[in-house]
Amino acid sequence: MVERRKSKDLRSSRWFAAEDLRGFGHRSRAMQMGYDTDDFLGKPVVAIINTWSDINPCHAHFRNRVEHVKRGVLQGGGFPLELPAMSLSENFVKPTTMLYRNLLAMEVEELLRCHPVDGVVLMGGCDKTTPATVMGAVSMNLPMIFLPAGPMMRGHVNGKIVGSGSDVWKYWAEKEAGNISEGDWRDIEAGIARSHGTCMTMGTASTMTLITEALGLSLPGASSIPAGDSAHPRMSAACGRRIVEMIWNDVTPSTILTRRSFENALVVHNAIAGSTNAIIHLIAMAGRAGVSLTMDDFDISARTTPVIANLRPSGAWLMEDFHIAGGTRALLNVLSPFLHLDEKTISGRTLGENLVGAKVFDNDVIRPLDKPISSIVGTAVLFGNLAPNGCVMKPAAAEARLLRHTGPALVFDNYDDMAKAINDPDLDVTPDHVLILRNAGPVGGPGMPEWGMLPIPRKLLHKGVRDMLRISDARMSGTSYGACILHVSPEAHVGGPLSAVRNGDLISVDVEARSLNLLVPDVVIAERMSSSSSPPPSSSRGFAGMFTRHVTQAHLGCDFDFLEGVEILPEPEIH
Ligand code: FES
Ligand code: MG
Repeated sequence: MVERRKSKDLRSSRWFAAEDLRGFGHRSRAMQMGYDTDDFLGKPVVAIINTWSDINPCHAHFRNRVEHVKRGVLQGGGFPLELPAMSLSENFVKPTTMLYRNLLAMEVEELLRCHPVDGVVLMGGCDKTTPATVMGAVSMNLPMIFLPAGPMMRGHVNGKIVGSGSDVWKYWAEKEAGNISEGDWRDIEAGIARSHGTCMTMGTASTMTLITEALGLSLPGASSIPAGDSAHPRMSAACGRRIVEMIWNDVTPSTILTRRSFENALVVHNAIAGSTNAIIHLIAMAGRAGVSLTMDDFDISARTTPVIANLRPSGAWLMEDFHIAGGTRALLNVLSPFLHLDEKTISGRTLGENLVGAKVFDNDVIRPLDKPISSIVGTAVLFGNLAPNGCVMKPAAAEARLLRHTGPALVFDNYDDMAKAINDPDLDVTPDHVLILRNAGPVGGPGMPEWGMLPIPRKLLHKGVRDMLRISDARMSGTSYGACILHVSPEAHVGGPLSAVRNGDLISVDVEARSLNLLVPDVVIAERMSSSSSPPPSSSRGFAGMFTRHVTQAHLGCDFDFLEGVEILPEPEIH
């Protein structure tokens, strides 16, 4: 039986209950907002971190949805306080939202630290907002629930189903090859994003919300509920009710997150052939919880976990289909033999208890363990002289002929050079070439933009080529596909071996052997690395300057070096 905390022990009571001049000030200012002391005194104060903005279509419903969370908090006997935070709209924020993930994480941690709150509901979902809000809340270690925005409706164009991102890349390649008319292209533009909510492919957004549920940080089944489904506001109110109980019972993330809960997240990541971005985010999230997670952990888990979620970009269906097929609880239930079912979750029950009664209603969308969508692993981590600290790829999303390939390098030193040259009819390139983009990593980007799915040169598109081996120190969108080797670490900008590649050097990849090598003698590579100088940082000023000075490399999660670990700062003085 959990010992229920007393009102006087609530963190917020330090602000509101003190019989001194400051306590007077806090109470009178709460009353200034129209509340009576009965509304807030002695009650759990729930922060609702709302990542709504006018320019985040994935979170458009959060402006109203927050009212459902508040309803739940009030029903539970708590006092809700909405705290807006940076929205990080994946499509609109430039140069990349990844530049700001750690800023949002800091904002969440500091919002919680400086205000009179006892626990938090985190409202996120669009790519970076999930890891960012979770990282900040884990570092603050107050009771927390993650409320996922939910995927948008299926895309529909001229009788065909189309998926966020994945089908854009696919149809763009066909348009470049001259196979799609302007009119059809406009129809796709109007039909691919039909409602509020996050991308409805298994891109970074759904990957992150599913693995956050697997970690035990969301209510059971929350991560697959479509944004427009009436179950979504009901789940939101349930988050409000549950967080109040969690505060009374002092259920903090440190009591939920263990090495084993992160192993559960790895299993889910692999079973859904999840976004490569999740590798960076999960390592960073684990770092905040004091759990050491390595690139090898992802590879080891991938070798034993079948890909059973048949969702684009690796499979056929979309998130709405997934939810109707049974959703996240059904998927986790099928994966039970691989999961640590006794791990605690924020529901107050174990992961296994959360899954009781979960059923699959469509065996093509959520496959049985013996009928995976592919015999190829969802994620592979490669090492070699070109990536001593590792790099990643999604073999299931690549053409099979490229999984073992040797070809000459065609090197681009930055994105602009690549964009200028790639469609030049005179570009000296064959389908066997290995396209390389460098200086696009955490420091070089800066912020490691999603440039890793380098475009196929137009002259090769016209010849029917749709995939080539591509290598970069960048990331790629979770909705992307192709033989793209990403996150090469250390990155070129800080002197990694990628900086030593010259046009025409032979590069060899063998995914089965998990190797990536530059076929140039080691002494030559060393000599080139010592003589190459990296371009100056784009800015030393402001946040970008701080980012480039403190961001860690991709294999370490790209957190700031001063935010890693479990040190919990002292509570603010109240004077
Ligand atoms: Fe927001 Fe994809 S753009 S989830
Ligand atoms: Mg994305």
